[in-house]
Amino acid sequence: MGGAGPATAVPVRDAEIVADIIRRAAAALAEAGCDTPRLDAELLLMETLGWSREELYTRPETTLDASEAERFEALVARRRRGEPVAYLIGRREFWSLDFSVTPAVLIPRPETEHLVEAVVDFLASRPEPQRILDLGTGSGAIAVSVARECAGAEVWATDVSAPALAVARENARRHGVDRRIDWFQGDLFAPLRGLPVSFDALVSNPPYIPSREMARLPRDVGAWEPVLALDGGTDGMDFYRRIVRDGTPRLREGGLLALEVGDGLAGLVSELFRAHGGLRRVRVLRDYAGLPRVVAGERTQASGTVSRPDPAPGVVSG
Ligand SMILES: C[S@@+](CC[C@H](N)C(=O)[O-])C[C@H]1O[C@@H](n2cnc3c(N)ncnc32)[C@H](O)[C@@H]1O
Repeated sequence: MGGAGPATAVPVRDAEIVADIIRRAAAALAEAGCDTPRLDAELLLMETLGWSREELYTRPETTLDASEAERFEALVARRRRGEPVAYLIGRREFWSLDFSVTPAVLIPRPETEHLVEAVVDFLASRPEPQRILDLGTGSGAIAVSVARECAGAEVWATDVSAPALAVARENARRHGVDRRIDWFQGDLFAPLRGLPVSFDALVSNPPYIPSREMARLPRDVGAWEPVLALDGGTDGMDFYRRIVRDGTPRLREGGLLALEVGDGLAGLVSELFRAHGGLRRVRVLRDYAGLPRVVAGERTQASGTVSRPDPAPGVVSG
């Protein structure tokens, strides 16, 4: 949503039916610069009425009572000011699962499903039990999805943000995998300091927006999503440097390092992987649009790696 559209309310008219309410709300959202006005109007009305999409199509003649109309008008007004639909309705689908989201977490993006896919495919050929680390878990989208797919995997998830970890835990509970995920609060690997653990896969979708570009982000993103989840330092590479340097020694031999990459960063991140010397089979995975989306590599002979057996997880927070 780019335009600074007026934030005035769009009142639902007396006896106005659902089909017309959606049409007028969509027009108002389009006027405010919303990219997907019809979809957003539908989602906001479904939220207001507690309806499924099917009900939206099979009950177009329904009218709203006064409190429903008031709630819908308030949601549309907030959306017109740029607030993302996912925050307004409190959830977003990812990996065909319903995730709770709050403004404390990045709204999970469909692109990140490629990262989940890469890890799940890789783990299919690794002996169990497996241990996976998700750095900067946010809503828990990656950790929860991997835990759901890989029944033999124990997942560790970290985030510097305590409110984000609370959301991630709720999502893990909702999807029945909370007991297979250990949560750690702190700066990247800091919570693991002193724990001689190693991983079959280390995965992250780190903050990667170059600081100077933060002010130019689309309003839906820049004004609403957490800076902590976005700002990747001067060139967007801060987290990649730290994760490759400190994460590679945490991998078991042959273990996977897989990182989502921002626009234009795949080459630089691949270079980092190659320059490290401890990673082989470095490759760039593309998304359905053909864009570079994930850089992956596997741990070479793991001298200096913490070997099995590892102690049980100890530091749990969130
Ligand atoms: C781009 S978001 C990714 C969230 C989630 N994994 C996803 O893919 O939707 C990056 C996450 O890293 C977390 N983060 C930022 N700085 C961090 C740090 N120094 N240590 C650990 N996590 C950090 C943020 O709080 C945020 O949840």
